Amino acid sequence: MKVRCDGRDMDTRALWMDGDVVKFIDQKILPHRFEILGASTVEEVAIFIEDMTVRGAPSIGAAGAYGMAVAQITGMDIQEAALRLKRTRPTAFDLFYGVDSMLAAASQGRDLVAAAEEYVTGIAEKCRKIGEHGNALIKDGFRILTHCNAGALATIDYGTALSPIRAAHRAGKKIHVFADETRPRLQGAALTSWELVQEGIPHDIIPDNAAGHFMQRGEIDMVIVGADRIAANGDFANKIGTYEKAVCAKENEIPFYTAAPVSTFDFSLESGMDIPIEERGQDEVRYVNGKLICPEKATARNPAFDMTPARYVTGIITEAGIFRPGELEREKLQ
Ligand code: MRU
Repeated sequence: MKVRCDGRDMDTRALWMDGDVVKFIDQKILPHRFEILGASTVEEVAIFIEDMTVRGAPSIGAAGAYGMAVAQITGMDIQEAALRLKRTRPTAFDLFYGVDSMLAAASQGRDLVAAAEEYVTGIAEKCRKIGEHGNALIKDGFRILTHCNAGALATIDYGTALSPIRAAHRAGKKIHVFADETRPRLQGAALTSWELVQEGIPHDIIPDNAAGHFMQRGEIDMVIVGADRIAANGDFANKIGTYEKAVCAKENEIPFYTAAPVSTFDFSLESGMDIPIEERGQDEVRYVNGKLICPEKATARNPAFDMTPARYVTGIITEAGIFRPGELEREKLQ
């Protein structure tokens, strides 16, 4: 991804391995500061996933894969490392896919630094291809709604939902993005907007509860979101609030797409109701910028994801092309 830092342009990934250390762009402090953090133990990698220094399904999967490489470097038991990394966040399938890919590589006696690098580069390339396929859906002048951050930060590079948007912009199409702010952690306002600013892509941040209004007024031509886990029938989990955007899109006859690489597909689950949904601490809702916004005694619920049934999905944009939810099979995505 393109980043302008200290007055100079650089091209970077969301995370990478530098010698024995996993380096992460600290996603907790963007858009105000751009800083790189390093992890040299499995425990440090696990904590960076838990505290959301690194977040977004494919980036979490990459962190899991690099974490396994760190386990090999530091001499930690590989199975123990896998269990610790898999305990960090429950919903994004990429985490399990990434860690299990490294367990398979270890069982073949492979060097896990090389295997993790191959894994991460492979997923980044798949995200680039998602952009090529998704770009074909975007017409000049399109106004596109997206939710959360499904950009390069969330996916190593390029993005899932943002990859077609990047490709359309680079192809010279005039597009406009509506970025839902995405309460409570504001990934849309903080991270999607930051990425779009870096690329010079015109956009507006909107309050989460404004998307229906803009759809009803004919100001949105299509919706593209990412996914954290896609079940075999095409139901999928994504950031909380995605479901209601999908329902509103159908009500207003607006095409609704999700975009994801192979690592996000959990073909072992028949339906999305079986996807584990992470529920995070209530203070993410009760506090904004460290300030309590409700009565001290008020309690809150904070599901991090919701499930969108396949019937609301126009198509799934993958590295192998665009599929109707029912058309997907594991073989198409290897
Ligand atoms: O809680 P997060 O920030 O990890 O959630 C991220 C999302 O929900 C993204 O939309 C999702 O990972 C798909 S994009 C890779």
